[in-house]
Amino acid sequence: TYTAESFVESSVAELKAQLGDDKVVLGLSGGVDSSVAAMLIHKAIGKNLYCIFVDNGLLRKDEFEDVLESYKGLGLNVTGVNAKQRFYDALKGLSDPELKRKAIGKTFIEVFDDEAHKIQDVKWLAQGTIYPDIIESVSVKGPSVTIKSHHNVGGLPDYMKLKIVEPLKLLFKDGVRIVGASLDMPQNILSRHPFPGPGLGIRILGDVTPEKVSILQEVDAIFINGLKEHGLYDDTWQAGAMLLPVQSVGVMGDERTYESVVALRAVTSVDGMTADWAHLPYEFLGEISNRIINKVKGVNRVVYDISSKPPATIEWE
Ligand code: XMP
Repeated sequence: TYTAESFVESSVAELKAQLGDDKVVLGLSGGVDSSVAAMLIHKAIGKNLYCIFVDNGLLRKDEFEDVLESYKGLGLNVTGVNAKQRFYDALKGLSDPELKRKAIGKTFIEVFDDEAHKIQDVKWLAQGTIYPDIIESVSVKGPSVTIKSHHNVGGLPDYMKLKIVEPLKLLFKDGVRIVGASLDMPQNILSRHPFPGPGLGIRILGDVTPEKVSILQEVDAIFINGLKEHGLYDDTWQAGAMLLPVQSVGVMGDERTYESVVALRAVTSVDGMTADWAHLPYEFLGEISNRIINKVKGVNRVVYDISSKPPATIEWE
């Protein structure tokens, strides 16, 4: 029978034969796919795999530090790049979702490319492409920032003449998680919700500023930690918060406030192509709403998104 162990064994043998002593570069995103791809290739070629993890300033709260630590714990040769300011500069004044995606994608390629050039004689670009990506790449809303879709749409710089290796391209997400578990990867990486490449950049409606990013990071962390505390995280396919470009009137003590509205979104899904809004308990939503409004300065109202996909999408932009 075909097992995760036999998949690992045959993939590692194939990768060894294919890659030999060549150097390989891979962009880690913190997500399941790129992480499992990295572990598999690492098992085959060890230190010849060079991983790059870019902080685009649009990640979840503490995500860069936490994920970088877990990668190092796994023995991966990984360079963390703080490129926040480059992304904020590129996003300055942009509010159109597609222009924001393009700016983030372009900046990612530039940052990644700068780092990849520091590695002498790199021959291969490894990617965590999985089977549904090949189908989805024709139907996504806009260009994604993952290298894979840039590659798919021919967006990689010409001078970066790297051969592509994609060890997970015949797997679905559940298969990737099973393979990761057989490689003894930690649950906090394997059970992680999907997160879009452009990150919080497409969850801040309108223009993106570092101040808005920190507000949304706090809101998102309260929501995600709440889901975990209440045992709801693993029943949810994806969850997060959107910072709306809307202010509403509230009251705090004797004072009238006029502050931002955030929308919480949680969905159940099998592959992200269709999704139902998650029927989270009212008590839970009430508790999270209170925590957010009490703790996050600048937010005085929380709403819950009860739209399914289609016709709504998971992300708001
Ligand atoms: P939508 O919003 O289209 O999202 O229902 C479906 C899934 O794709 C993710 N998503 C993206 N991922 N780059 C990405 O890497 C993108 O530009 C992008 N847009 C949406 C979304 O988070 C969900 O998991």
